Amino acid sequence: MSQNIENKVVVITGASSGLGAETARHLAAQGAKVVLGARRLDRLESLAAELGLDARAILSTDVTDYLQVQALVDRALELHGRIDVLINNAGLMPSSMLDKLKIEEWNRMIDVNIKGVLYGIAAVLPKMKEQKSGQIINVSSVAGHKVGPGGAVYAGTKWAVRAISEGLRQEVKPWNIRTTIVSPGAVDTELTGTITDEDIAKGMAKTYENAIPASSFARVVAFAISQPDEVDVNEILFRPTVQVY
Ligand SMILES: NC(=O)c1ccc[n+]([C@@H]2O[C@H](COP(=O)([O-])OP(=O)(O)OC[C@H]3O[C@@H](n4cnc5c(N)ncnc54)[C@H](OP(=O)(O)O)[C@@H]3O)[C@@H](O)[C@H]2O)c1
Repeated sequence: MSQNIENKVVVITGASSGLGAETARHLAAQGAKVVLGARRLDRLESLAAELGLDARAILSTDVTDYLQVQALVDRALELHGRIDVLINNAGLMPSSMLDKLKIEEWNRMIDVNIKGVLYGIAAVLPKMKEQKSGQIINVSSVAGHKVGPGGAVYAGTKWAVRAISEGLRQEVKPWNIRTTIVSPGAVDTELTGTITDEDIAKGMAKTYENAIPASSFARVVAFAISQPDEVDVNEILFRPTVQVY
């Protein structure tokens, strides 16, 4: 077990599949007290059973609703009295060319990928300020560094995550709060299942042929959390070794 992960109270959004679920497994195995949110409660229940979690350590949470995000964080406080790490992980990637005018999908990405992250920050900041400690980990993407055809809105949301995270980093210094951006390349999860545009889906399937396991992300998160308190790992960008873009 890692010294600086064991017993930490870690809230993860989007914990019902992919990166969030795998990170819950990895951190729980290292002794973290995980509290997990997502909309699919049946998935969270299976994960809780697998990890032997208290039934109260999972909560149906839609990150587009600020009150639900607050309720998830409040649950962690009720159970453990503190919050050490928030992983703002929930997200979706229904990529398409702008001229397809998939406005509902643009709105959804903005609501989940940007506003969901802001709601998470709002939900934990007062307590972390009071504690004078904490770590907020926001999940961006290689798409937060690069944009290509079909990826304008998704990249826009992930760019926004990096901008918000950097502003947050500068502002929370007085309270000893750490901030980390994790920007993955192609990782094997359910993410590409959110793409409704057939042409984009085909191209993406090709890119994701080289996707690496979600455990790669979990190890990166664990690395950032496990650093000594005075070490603030601000961003990690990683890709499959063979991924060009
Ligand atoms: N996989 C990659 O290649 C990759 C690369 C770069 C960045 N990322 C980012 O990694 C994060 C996790 O994605 P993933 O790859 O693990 O995909 P995933 O397997 O599809 O997981 C996405 C998670 O987000 C949750 N979610 C979606 N909408 C939500 C909402 N409104 N409220 C609460 N939770 C919601 C889903 O849970 P419910 O549906 O149960 O709510 C699910 O648990 C995302 O932010 C994604 O953009 C992934």
